[in-house]
Amino acid sequence: MRVEVVADEAALAIRAADLVCDAVRAKPATRLGLPTGNTPIPAYAEIARRVAVGEADFSRADIYGIDEFAGVARTTPGTNSMFYRQYVHFGQRALHCPNPSATEPDEHIRAFADALRRAGGLDLCVLGIGVNGHIAFNEPGSPRDSRARVVELTPASREAHATTFGSLDAVPSHGMTLGVADLLEARRIVVLVSAARKATVVRAAIEGAQTAGVPASWLQSHGGVTWLLDAAAAAALSRGT
Ligand code: PGA
Repeated sequence: MRVEVVADEAALAIRAADLVCDAVRAKPATRLGLPTGNTPIPAYAEIARRVAVGEADFSRADIYGIDEFAGVARTTPGTNSMFYRQYVHFGQRALHCPNPSATEPDEHIRAFADALRRAGGLDLCVLGIGVNGHIAFNEPGSPRDSRARVVELTPASREAHATTFGSLDAVPSHGMTLGVADLLEARRIVVLVSAARKATVVRAAIEGAQTAGVPASWLQSHGGVTWLLDAAAAAALSRGT
């Protein structure tokens, strides 16, 4: 596992864009998993800028969503599908997202994961983490061998999305997610984390025991993970980086 620390959110966006663009340059037909959340938005803007000026070419890349809410229309503000439409302005040749209005969400997300595996799996998966250590919608309690499934969202995760859905009541109770085991099948993983409020969970995920209580700690068992942190998110790490 590599841990890279940069000064601040702006530097994080540039470095994240470097890592993703380098991967796509090395393999133009990359299958790329991308997270939602506030953290990656500046990186997505930087990648889109590079594509717009011809410094990067994502025309052969396939982009995969890694989780989605369940039980709402795809066009509902707040869904991950809408997030990608709003922020991922590159490589939309093939944007593969679970359908939040699937009538059988458990079957749907399993079929989504199977199709991804049949296509060859993710070459690079970018992840964020929640303050409770979740990765995608794998909330605390998710075992290492968990697969794509429907999950009940924690109150904290629902609250984090209240603004984009318009109110807490409007946030669905359940989501669909690739499982921890599915995410760990990506050949490379880059985890983006900024802000002091994540410093404690970053330390637990990187330096603590591997445990379902902190799903991001399972990333320690993958040989190709790069943690990309800003200084505030790295502040509680005990070892030099
Ligand atoms: P954030 O979300 O980037 O908005 O903090 C990350 C996450 O909850 O996975």
